[in-house]
Amino acid sequence: MTRVDIGALVEFPNGGARAVRVEDRELVVVRIEDDVYVLDDRCTHEAFWLSDGDVDVATREIECARHGAMFRLSDGAPMCLPATSPVATYEVSVRQGRVEVSW
Ligand code: FES
Repeated sequence: MTRVDIGALVEFPNGGARAVRVEDRELVVVRIEDDVYVLDDRCTHEAFWLSDGDVDVATREIECARHGAMFRLSDGAPMCLPATSPVATYEVSVRQGRVEVSW
């Protein structure tokens, strides 16, 4: 398993999404208070960047800015059409204020 430090927790906007590129992976990082979610930065409908979308803090979902599909942050499950396949998610831990992603 690979574990990568992707930055300090405070560097990620609370309630927002940010693109992170690590090695050959394109990730979107969403922070809601002390919770951090990391998913592939590609909508499963037509491969648009999820990091361009809005985060629904109440439902903990991210919206694809292109056609409006919503994905659950915890497991990447599609919550509405037009997406029908989940987005891959990653294990995340926060240690001493640093965010680490594993794969
Ligand atoms: S590309 Fe994301 S909903 Fe179509």
